[in-house]
Amino acid sequence: CGAPACRAGAGAGGRDSHSDMSIYSRILGTGSFLPPKRLTNADLAAELAQQGVETSDEWIVERTGIRARHFAAPEVGSSDLATEAGRRALEAAGLTAADLDLIIVATSTPDMVFPSTATMVQHKLGAAGCPAFDVQAVCSGFIYALTVADSMIRAGSAKNALVIGAEVFSRILDFKDRTTCVLFGDGAGAVVIGASDQPGILATDIHADGKHRDILCVPGHVSGGNVLGDPVLKMDGQAVFKLAVGVLEETARASLAKANLTDADIDWLIPHQANIRIMQSTARKLKMSSDKVVVTVDQHGNTSAASIPLALDTAVRDGRIQRGQTLMLEGVGGGFTWGSVLLRY
Ligand code: ACO
Repeated sequence: CGAPACRAGAGAGGRDSHSDMSIYSRILGTGSFLPPKRLTNADLAAELAQQGVETSDEWIVERTGIRARHFAAPEVGSSDLATEAGRRALEAAGLTAADLDLIIVATSTPDMVFPSTATMVQHKLGAAGCPAFDVQAVCSGFIYALTVADSMIRAGSAKNALVIGAEVFSRILDFKDRTTCVLFGDGAGAVVIGASDQPGILATDIHADGKHRDILCVPGHVSGGNVLGDPVLKMDGQAVFKLAVGVLEETARASLAKANLTDADIDWLIPHQANIRIMQSTARKLKMSSDKVVVTVDQHGNTSAASIPLALDTAVRDGRIQRGQTLMLEGVGGGFTWGSVLLRY
């Protein structure tokens, strides 16, 4: 609704209370894809032991909740995982690639420096012409991408958008650093969102604070035909942990306030899957029981931008998430970046 009074009442990032004339975006279908190679903690510990790096299933499970992760084959890139997840989301939505007028891929592990992974996905899906671009916000990437797609749909510049989170984090891990290499996995998750007169996405909330850029980063870069700096992931785990639990509660509360809802209205919390202890702590702060939290970190590890849509698709396909339910999606990642999307499925 374009009435100034109505806009003023909606609040930044919130939605008009009038339903006439308003355009919303809603999820039409979800999909995901994991590369077939699966490593349990014991498998990974055995591989690391050959390089003199010591770890154990007990340590990894106790500190993180992770039991297994998937790694892509060397010839497989983020665009391959993304394309498969996108295909599945399109099928679930009952659409084809020709129906898309926007493709956004969230990734920090693109196939190439350029062009974007999204343009590769567009071509592999057999589409052409619609805008396609990547969003780089590390583990918050999917939340950022969904926020951008929602804004473009509400502005009337897109009707059907494919939003994907896809990563091959195995390519940027230092397998001599046991404090990081046990945490991450590869995969992709996707949603198709479409314009609707019914909500849909109820509120979005995204933030960044670059002063924390050094606590989680891959500092290497390409220059003069060489890789300069260290092109593997570096993390101060305890600093990340402390920041994450604070901002995840803040952003969830901000989205709820924008939509005039409370934590009691959330049916499912679908957080970024970094660490079970961060997820449990967020659930406690939102007064949610742990059986309302979708957990896939145990089977996927941390798949960065892919983790939220992978978890969403898992719970949609196993029947836990039902149409009409209220979902809180939230993420935090390098930058630091963080944010949430509150939606009616
Ligand atoms: N196996 C065995 N021992 C290990 C391993 C391992 N894989 N990694 C570390 N250790 C040892 C350390 O060497 C240390 O040994 P010491 O006491 O002899 O020195 C001991 O375990 C404790 O190490 P800490 O780093 O203090 O362990 P901590 O309890 O902080 O757990 C962890 C580390 C799991 C990374 C934790 O800090 C954490 O969860 N942080 C959140 C970060 C996160 O989830 N990041 C994901 C990416 S960020 C994102 O997605 C938002």
